[in-house]
Amino acid sequence: MYDFKPAAGAIAKPDLYADLLAAADGLTAGEPDAVANMANVAALLWDFVPELNWAGFYRAIDAELVLGPFAGRPACIRIPFGQGVCGAAAASGATQLVPDVHAFPGHIACDAASRSELVVPVIRDGAVRAVIDLDSPLPARFDAEDAAGIEALARLLAARI
Ligand code: SME
Repeated sequence: MYDFKPAAGAIAKPDLYADLLAAADGLTAGEPDAVANMANVAALLWDFVPELNWAGFYRAIDAELVLGPFAGRPACIRIPFGQGVCGAAAASGATQLVPDVHAFPGHIACDAASRSELVVPVIRDGAVRAVIDLDSPLPARFDAEDAAGIEALARLLAARI
């Protein structure tokens, strides 16, 4: 049994992401299967990061994003590079921090409850391999500390997914 648990009570974001990173490292170290690693990290994101309605992965396959392991409601399966928030992250290779998804041109509404979104590309050998997507029902849920934490997670996972 694995016993990775978020700290109880209020916790500063840098500490929360340090704990999440340590748990993700422990769960994925030495495991070569990308799907298993993405599945466990999606579960960790859901468990550790508060106020989410979706957390998971899209994989970059032939200039398209294909749904990967996640927690939350069933989601759009294929997203072309350049479309929506995830497609923008995949096309640009840059983190997308979107305080109001309704104001983002081309946002793809998989779950009408989503109000803000953070998407971070996972880059290996200069190419986007996947994106990590977090959605929240709260407007402006994510800030620079969330982006830094998920970017650290993306760097950890680059060689493991
Ligand atoms: N809203 C995303 C699509 C993915 S779902 O939120 C899970 C987007 O615009 O890329």
